[in-house]
Amino acid sequence: MASLPGRFQSFDCEVTLEPDKPVTDLPCAIQIRGLSKTYKTGFWLAPKVTHALHDLHLDVYEKQAFGLLGLNGAGKTTTIKLILGLLKPTAGTLRILDGRISDRRVRDRIGYLPELPYFSKQHTGRELLRYFGALHGLSGKALRHRVEEVLELVRMTRTADQRVSGYSKGMQQRIGIGQALIGKPQLLICDEPMSGLDPVGYKEMRDIFIDLKKMGTTIFLNTHIMDEVERICDRIGILHDGRLKEVVPVHQVLQSTVPVDYWVDVDAGEAPKLSGLPFQDAVAQNGGVQVTGMVLAETLALLTSRRAEVKGVRPLSSLLEAYFLRAIGAQVGPASPAKGGQ
Ligand SMILES: Nc1ncnc2c1ncn2[C@@H]1O[C@H](COP(=O)(O)OP(=O)(O)OP(=O)(O)O)[C@@H](O)[C@H]1O
Ligand SMILES: [Mg+2]
Repeated sequence: MASLPGRFQSFDCEVTLEPDKPVTDLPCAIQIRGLSKTYKTGFWLAPKVTHALHDLHLDVYEKQAFGLLGLNGAGKTTTIKLILGLLKPTAGTLRILDGRISDRRVRDRIGYLPELPYFSKQHTGRELLRYFGALHGLSGKALRHRVEEVLELVRMTRTADQRVSGYSKGMQQRIGIGQALIGKPQLLICDEPMSGLDPVGYKEMRDIFIDLKKMGTTIFLNTHIMDEVERICDRIGILHDGRLKEVVPVHQVLQSTVPVDYWVDVDAGEAPKLSGLPFQDAVAQNGGVQVTGMVLAETLALLTSRRAEVKGVRPLSSLLEAYFLRAIGAQVGPASPAKGGQ
């Protein structure tokens, strides 16, 4: 673990660190201690206070991808904005790339894709990337070369000379990722990077992230798309109502025994054979049975004994999704009917 002084200061507040219990020898790209954010809005007669983030402690390891998962309003964007120094914390400290976010040399090594990227509409994609490249100190041949390299990387070479006003949401998102990558960042921070991408764009972007990780880039991303996390991330953090519920390696989630619901597809004409299933966790519906993993084997055995023709069995959620829902205490199980098994 990167050595840290017992006491450091960032933003405008100073906090004494608790001695960090080393859980790994990996160096940290981001170290967060006791970070909190309270928003105060409204008028003095009707003030509104939102505790968006409570006492966040988190280590993000170098050269790994970390995914922060949470429902809408969980505090994910707030966390990213605090990490980037775009918001002032109510309490807490953070150390990033062995320095402070207020240090320009640290910021120069970070790429950021905001949740809602906005670009000047009258410029082309290529012009925008040239502009952002110049901000990173590139010029002349090096700038031209890097712009072409990034356009290629985000699959925008063909449409690079169109104005942004004519870009679809997914194309704007690709240019957004492009501007985040133009300075070859050591740490890439993305707020919902897959938002607006079509399935092909989604797969391409996933491959880009996997390649970046192979090249040694540290990635921090916010998302609620579980598939994205499973394929890209090494570790996840589950944020709920501004509190970090859990931090866990993805491989550990995939080896866990958290129950997943299944859909047992049975021919529609076999409906009478589905009645009176003796398990509380199996709900017969038109054309099949929704069942928890706990009683899947028994349900299949019973249906076979009734000579019902089972056409197939498929999980209704990924393991990661089930793990996430359990961590945030969401109601799971076969109580809610799934039309057509979906
Ligand atoms: N500028 C703000 N002023 C007041 N409240 C805010 C502000 N920004 C966020 N909040 C509140 O803080 C909480 C966390 O919001 P945040 O945007 O961090 O959530 P999120 O996890 O990114 O959600 P989403 O998935 O919808 O993007 C929410 O209750 C939100 O309403
Ligand atoms: Mg957000």
